[in-house]
Amino acid sequence: MKQFLSVNDVPNINALVDKALAYKINPLADQHLGQKKRMGLLFLNPSMRTRLSTQIAAQNLGMEAIVFNVGQDGWALEFEDEAIMSGNTVEHVKDAAPILGKYFDVLGVRTFPTLQNKEEDYSELYVNQFIKYSGIPVISLESATLHPLQSLTDLITITETFKEKRKPRIVLTWAPHVKALPQCVANSFSQWVNAWGKADFVITHPEDYELDPKFTKGASITHHQDEALENADFVYVKNWSTYNDYGRIYCNDPQWMLTNKKLKPTNNAKIMHCLPVRRNVELSDEVLDNAHSIVTQQAANRVWAAQGVLSEVLNGLGK
Ligand code: CP
Repeated sequence: MKQFLSVNDVPNINALVDKALAYKINPLADQHLGQKKRMGLLFLNPSMRTRLSTQIAAQNLGMEAIVFNVGQDGWALEFEDEAIMSGNTVEHVKDAAPILGKYFDVLGVRTFPTLQNKEEDYSELYVNQFIKYSGIPVISLESATLHPLQSLTDLITITETFKEKRKPRIVLTWAPHVKALPQCVANSFSQWVNAWGKADFVITHPEDYELDPKFTKGASITHHQDEALENADFVYVKNWSTYNDYGRIYCNDPQWMLTNKKLKPTNNAKIMHCLPVRRNVELSDEVLDNAHSIVTQQAANRVWAAQGVLSEVLNGLGK
């Protein structure tokens, strides 16, 4: 694997899920694979799970991982080509990224969207500039529009949890939030579940919260959350801001927050969320603290997703 930016970089989703689950059973199976290799983990935005799980995954493969909180500790980076840097930015990515390419064998990058300019966010300018100028494999630790390590984790979690012969019914439901959040997790989850093709996939959200059809095509989409939840095996809860009229909050209807009563028509659905979650805004205490919530199992699986991907990237080095 030469890069990991989306499901499109994965030749075989099931094989990668199986590899990650094998690491879960035997974390040190490839403890020498990353020897004498170094990974840079660049964070332009905050993180707990992605940062720690990727560091642990690298360590399990015998690889050194160095975290650099660019957004907090580094020079303010400029990403626009031909920019006249008379404003707040101090260093151009064109100058910084080649240096990172000399320090590291693999680069992980986390960026968020601005939610101001759809075209710019959906062009994935930041991560693409690191790819263009670093000259080494780049792993997305979440980009402006996608969160592939999270989505791989989600499929790992669903695969290990669902043991019936039939397809699971997976529901992605919008939830209220006080801030305008990116569409990344919802886009990416939709893209991966559709590419996986092993689920009956339903997306439910209020009117005018349609996601980019490029990611959702193949799913059933409804504005009726109660209908969507019927017979669900998994309910993935996530807020996102509007995509069409970009980055807005139109609806903060608390009726969209899941309760145990709402979950009654489901098939004892397991509840998923990428975390962090705002309790009693996005998800109620009673749902999060119920045995049906698998959010901790899901977050723990971030290690195995990162390890599976890193292993593939290490195997691809020099090829
Ligand atoms: N889910 C997720 O990416 O968590 P962090 O923001 O803590 O990394």
